[in-house]
Parts: sequence; C-alpha cells; structure tokens
Amino acid sequence: MRTIIIVTSLYLFAICADAVKILCVFPMVSYSHHQIGHTLMKELAKRGHEITFVSPFPEKEPIKNFKTVVLTGLVEEANKILATFNPLEQKSNSVFFNIIFLTFMTSSIMEQTLAHENLHALLRSGEKYDIVLTERFAFDGLLVIGQQLNVPYGLISCTGPSTWTNHLVGAPDIPSYLPSLAVDPPVHTSFTKRLYNFILYVYSKLFERIYSYPKQDAIVKKYFPDAPHIYDIIYNTSLILFNSDNSFNQPIPTTANSVEIGGFHVRPPKKLPEDLQKILDNAKHGVVYFSLGSVVKSSLIPVEKRQEILRALSKLKETVLWKFEEDLPNLPPNVIIKSWFPQSDLLAHPNVKVFITHGGLLSTIESLHRGVPVIGIPVFGDQKMNMANAVNQGHGLMIPYPELSEETLSEALKDVLTNPEYRNNVKYSSAVLKDQLVDPIDKAEYWIKYVIRHKGVKHLRLASMDLTWYQHVSLDVILFLTAVTVILFYVFYRIIKSLLGRRKSKKQKVN
Ligand SMILES: *[C@@H]1O[C@H](CO)[C@@H](O)[C@H](O)[C@H]1NC(C)=O
Repeated sequence: MRTIIIVTSLYLFAICADAVKILCVFPMVSYSHHQIGHTLMKELAKRGHEITFVSPFPEKEPIKNFKTVVLTGLVEEANKILATFNPLEQKSNSVFFNIIFLTFMTSSIMEQTLAHENLHALLRSGEKYDIVLTERFAFDGLLVIGQQLNVPYGLISCTGPSTWTNHLVGAPDIPSYLPSLAVDPPVHTSFTKRLYNFILYVYSKLFERIYSYPKQDAIVKKYFPDAPHIYDIIYNTSLILFNSDNSFNQPIPTTANSVEIGGFHVRPPKKLPEDLQKILDNAKHGVVYFSLGSVVKSSLIPVEKRQEILRALSKLKETVLWKFEEDLPNLPPNVIIKSWFPQSDLLAHPNVKVFITHGGLLSTIESLHRGVPVIGIPVFGDQKMNMANAVNQGHGLMIPYPELSEETLSEALKDVLTNPEYRNNVKYSSAVLKDQLVDPIDKAEYWIKYVIRHKGVKHLRLASMDLTWYQHVSLDVILFLTAVTVILFYVFYRIIKSLLGRRKSKKQKVN
C-alpha cells in the first residue's frame, strides 16, 4: 500500500513539475475560431497544464485547470454588425475591398481586447505565466501581452501557413506559387493567375505596411505606452501553431517553429444518441449529411431555394440528414431535419456517403479525417479556398452558393454518390492526415514546453529576419549586377565604336 502511495505521489509530482501555465488570448468573435483555441487549451488542461483563456465567450460549465476571463461586450458589439449582414446576399465582393473590411474589423476587436478592464485586471494581478499564446489573425499586435509579461510568446493560427504569416518567422513568401489571401489555389498553373496573385500580394503587403501595422502600433501604444515598436514585438514570435496539414493544404515552406497541428480537434468518435444511431444503421442505401455550419442560418435560405434543394434531395434513395433550425413543410420521406447533429461523430459512421457542407475549415477537416467525400457550397470567408483545395485533391465537387439549384445539386449528388474515385481520394488523404509521428496535441504540447524550456527560440531564428524585403529577394544584388552589366556593355560599345571609327578614318586617309 505504501509503495502505491509513494509511486502515485511521485507520479503526481512528476506531472505537476512538468505542468506549465499558459495564458491564451482568443478574441475573435466567431465560434469556429473560438473552437480551435478552446479545444486545444481544453486538451492541454486535461494533461495537467494550467490554462487561463481570454475569450468573448463565457464557459458553460467549469473545467478543471481552466480559468476563463470573459471579454464582455465583444459579442454584443459584433452582433450589432452581424444583424445587418446576410452572408447569402453578399454581392461577390472584391478581395481588394474584403482585405480593407477585414482589417477594420480585426483592429476594432484588437482595440476592444487591449482596452478591456478584465484583461488589465489580469495583468495587474501579478499572476505569472510561462508562455502567452494569442490568436493569429490580422491583429498580431495582441502579442504585446506576452511582451508586457516578459515571457516567451507565440500564435495559434486557425488557418495554414501562407504569405499572410510567413513574414512573421522569416520564411519565404513567394507569390509565384504561394497563394495570397483569398486566392483559390493552385496559383502556379497559369500566367494570368500568377499575375493576379502577384498584384494581390503586393496590394495586401502595402496595405499591411502602410495602414494595418501602423494602426495596430498606435493601438498598442495607447494602452501600453512603454511597449516597443510593433515590429520589435511581432518579429520576436517564438512559435506559430497552425491548424493545417499537407493532407488538405498545399505544402508551404516554413520554419521549424511553425508547427502544423491540423486535425487535432477531431477526437475518436463518441457514441451517437440512440435514435440517430438507429437511423444511420438502418439506412440501407446510405446517408447524405447536409449542414451549412453555424453562421449560415437556415432561415436565411430563401423559400424558393429551399424548394429547389428539397426537390433534388427527394430524388435520392439515400437517407438525408439536414441540419436545419426550423420546421420545413412537405418534407420528402427520405429527409430528416434536426437543429443540431453531433457532426464529427456522425461522419465517422460507415453509412455516411457524402457530406454537403459550406466548406468551413473545421467541417472540411472533419470530413477528411472521417474519410467522407464532400459537395461544397461555399458562402464566404475561406470557404471557397478550402473547397478549391478539396476539389483539387479530388475529394468532391463545389457549387458556389449563387449557382445552387435543383439541377446543379442533383448532378453533383449523382456524380459523387456513384463515382468511387472521390471516396478513394478522400481515403488516401485521410490516411496521410492520420499518419503522424505523434498526435498533433502531443506535438503542440512539446513545442509549447520547448519554447518555455529554452526561453524562446533564438537558435531557430532565420537570418532572413535581419534583412529588409529587397535584400531578402536579392533585389539590390540584381540591380547592382544589372547596372554593372549595362555599364560594361556601354563601355565596350564605345571602345568598339571608336576603334571602328579610327580604322575608317585611316582608310579615308590612304585613299
Ligand atoms: C524576445 O523574446 C525573448 C523571450 O522569448 C526575450 O528574452 C528577448 O528579450 C526578446 N527580444 C526582444 C528584442 O524583445
């Protein structure tokens, strides 16, 4: 008995000695963003780490080792804007405009966070943390929180590495093959696509340098007057955790401390509710699962469009499970609607044949993990890009929302349900996603502790971080060599000309 007690206490001591204190700031007022930071931190809390999570969303029930600091008022503020926003009625806004809109939104969220009394109370409390992790979006200035607490800090990105993040760690961001923000991959396949990508790249970089970062710097200075310049803060980021994996993202060159943990939020499937389990087990022709996520509410889908969708679904012999928040009259017998489904667990059922999705990143990863082909109906944000990636890899088909009709949906369903290639491709990528040296959460935990143990990662810092952008792309060297070449040619030309001229005049003299 005594041995057991000693061993247990030694074990507990080992865990506690190994446990770290993480301050995680995840202010984006979007449930899918929240879910990424929240799931990761909850898993780390389960492993004994002490988490303080700063978020606009209050916790439903207390979690062990997990303290929430609520950024009150942010959700209300966002709802004011969202009340006037119907994602389905957006005219196809230009990317050039969207970049500006996004920056206004994110700098407002950043300011509300850095101004928040609950955050300042936390900072005043004198509580010590081992590391600060902030959400990676267009508000890198949030890293000032780590700088103020004088501890190493890092970022958690809801998307993969890109030209939007690579500069933070000095990794290459080359627009000839790396897609800029909101450009559908692949971009390297034609000259016009590369041209468009290049223009968008330069535009977004200029906007970032001329407006976004100076604006963020001003906000940081307003609330933390003694903070260094924003560039000194953001270019000292020790770690970026990315919610991506090469099974669903184009491979992007990055650094050792850019760590991809995509798929981490998909855990082994839990038991389904009994009624749902029965429906799935008994669907002898298989199941089509249909959900447009949490932002695109069913009530926003116009009645005519609903009828078109229903007509297409009624032609199927498969059972359809549709996440729809309202009652629908005249439902075909093979269609079942519910306001919520345990999506990730449901997708793991072998009878699910296809997932009709809005293409949000979490849904995209879940269907891939579970090996289910998709029909994407992207609406806004990164959805079209995710679905373009899925189509590229042969995981399914895409019908942009404006093109959704009885005919297009019927055709897509027929194709994806009968052509086994889609499932084979998804199975292939699913195997790649799961083929990891360690579980993605172990990987995240290792890297967080690594940064803490070594008090940052200066030994991993790329030399490119010490160069300006034109030195980085060797523009100064190319210009120098061009100038030297031009001068040499000119000198050569003058010499030849004067030599020829002399011979000519000699000849004339002889004559
Ligand atoms: C960068 O961060 C490390 C800790 O992660 C810190 O020791 C160092 O002073 C910081 N450097 C600058 C220039 O702020």
